[in-house]
Amino acid sequence: MSSSDTYVLGRSESETRRLILQHQIYAPLTRRFFEAAGIGAGMKVLDVGSGAGDVALLAAELVGPSGQVVGIDMNPTILETARSRATSAGWTNVTFLTGDARELALDTDFDAVVGRWVLMHIPDPVATLHHLVTHLRIGGIAAFHENDFTYPPTVFPPTDLSRQIQRWSIPPHGTPGRETRMGTQLLKTYLAAGLPEPQLIVEAVAGGGPDWPGYEYLAETLRSLMPALKGATGIDPAEIGIDTLAARLRDDVVGRQGIMMLPIMFGAWSRKPAHAP
Ligand SMILES: C[S@@+](CC[C@H](N)C(=O)[O-])C[C@H]1O[C@@H](n2cnc3c(N)ncnc32)[C@H](O)[C@@H]1O
Repeated sequence: MSSSDTYVLGRSESETRRLILQHQIYAPLTRRFFEAAGIGAGMKVLDVGSGAGDVALLAAELVGPSGQVVGIDMNPTILETARSRATSAGWTNVTFLTGDARELALDTDFDAVVGRWVLMHIPDPVATLHHLVTHLRIGGIAAFHENDFTYPPTVFPPTDLSRQIQRWSIPPHGTPGRETRMGTQLLKTYLAAGLPEPQLIVEAVAGGGPDWPGYEYLAETLRSLMPALKGATGIDPAEIGIDTLAARLRDDVVGRQGIMMLPIMFGAWSRKPAHAP
């Protein structure tokens, strides 16, 4: 992996599994967001930071067989998973390219450029978005779905464990490797990249009960973040007890018939104006 690789969640197989679990939880939100943004049948869509391919596959469902999806990611290994999943799903109009979103030379006639949890991982989101817009036709849609970790996972009513999880889930602002407030910075980022003021949508996943997958998802996210958390906060991984965290959290929530809300998602979209790059 190149020295410019800043992906803070790592490149392990467990990270790939975490991305797929994450999509099972977040797919309905991203689908609603893309539909609101105007992604639809017949479009040619560029998916930035595809990971295991979930957003590209969702985009493929929206554009249908008459559309086209190109996914890019700087991690060639995870794209092998994305490719095999696209093939298994029967899509022949979904392709994946390895490269850095900030540099890759691509067509300039995309109807939409989309991404989820990706601008937050790129050191200069304004320059990146400015570059990505060059791949859009005039009137094309830029739609990005990102978190803001100022609003961490929350259990209602809270307990000692849920407060600890909040503390672990908020990397200190300025932690290298990701912009923890990307969601709430989308409007500013779009304007600085030369796009019109975006429309915004805000939604969070909440759940409870023994079968809700959110407990595993949260624990697996902390597992992927562990090396970065240790470096940034000095936190002792033993303190987190990662292998039992999902079970403890489930007991904590279910035992009180509580509910848990996962970090809030912010979606922003606008269309490339005639004067844009
Ligand atoms: C959190 S994952 C999100 C994956 C996918 N968008 C999803 O929602 O499931 C972020 C992905 O962005 C990729 N990435 C980070 N920086 C990148 C860059 N500069 N160019 C291309 N891909 C990048 C990472 O390799 C990783 O696969």
